[in-house]
Amino acid sequence: MKVLITRRIPEVAINLLKKNKFEILQPISDKPISKNRLKLLAEQADGILSLLTDRIDKELINSLQRCKVIANFAVGYNNIDIIAASEKGIIVTNTPGVLTDSTADLTIALMLNTTRRISESEKFLRDGKFTGWKPDLLLGRELKNKILGIIGAGAIGQAVGERALSFGLKIIYYNRSPKREFERKTRSKKVSLNTLLKTSDIISIHLPLSDETKNLLSKEKLELLKRDAVIINTSRGEILDEQHMIKMLESNRIYSAGLDVFHNEPDINPRLLKMRNVIVLPHVGSATVETRNAMAELAAKNIINVLKGRKPLTPVNHE
Ligand code: DGY
Repeated sequence: MKVLITRRIPEVAINLLKKNKFEILQPISDKPISKNRLKLLAEQADGILSLLTDRIDKELINSLQRCKVIANFAVGYNNIDIIAASEKGIIVTNTPGVLTDSTADLTIALMLNTTRRISESEKFLRDGKFTGWKPDLLLGRELKNKILGIIGAGAIGQAVGERALSFGLKIIYYNRSPKREFERKTRSKKVSLNTLLKTSDIISIHLPLSDETKNLLSKEKLELLKRDAVIINTSRGEILDEQHMIKMLESNRIYSAGLDVFHNEPDINPRLLKMRNVIVLPHVGSATVETRNAMAELAAKNIINVLKGRKPLTPVNHE
């Protein structure tokens, strides 16, 4: 059986698939696969190991001849038309769990960076502007006793909350269902989205992108934010109204933003790049050696399981 891997990923996946006697389609390149090449190769594949940079839409899914499983190398799967895949009986899987810690760590790093102005301070020094210690040089804000509003208390949101506790942050969260164990561990409280936006000093977004969450933080919702609030986003850019957030940052209506995700990646709105109060990262939430290896292994195991007639480990459209 043949497996298409759409782009270079850690060797562990390739080795596992080969060990299980699967043929790997395509010389794996470091560049995103073109739409035509994806279609051509996907038609021959029994399983596809896809990336969030691949658009697996209805048209592509309907053209698949023999594919039984699409294993996305990401926890998010907004790049795949799940309804079309389910209608065609194709199992879609993702990589939850293995990237929770790395993404939560990066979220905390963004919180510290925005509030303590780390990137800005480093640039200041590298630009040769450091002429000596000064009482009012690059003053930031402390985390202790500030309110952190976690939007989406899934695994990553909860891991962020647990870490945040040790910095003395007080935690509130917005989620469809209450998370009692998380509340107990972090002394946090479930609130409505409006309450969270109105009361948080820092908001951190941890929702998957879907029709319901797209533009959830609309212009109107963003306007509820406290003066001087900080926005952290390590989930998906489209969850908030980026244009409006930029206006709020430019006018210092909010304090700062730490962003790992954007609308239209990899094209970043140039206005974001000009602001000193914005930290921009190239979607590296899960970018550690350990996590990327674990993601590759999990994606490969999902393919192997489905193609060998076993249950997938982490399906998103299959009971
Ligand atoms: C994901 O998994 O969805 C991240 O955005 C990349 O690891």
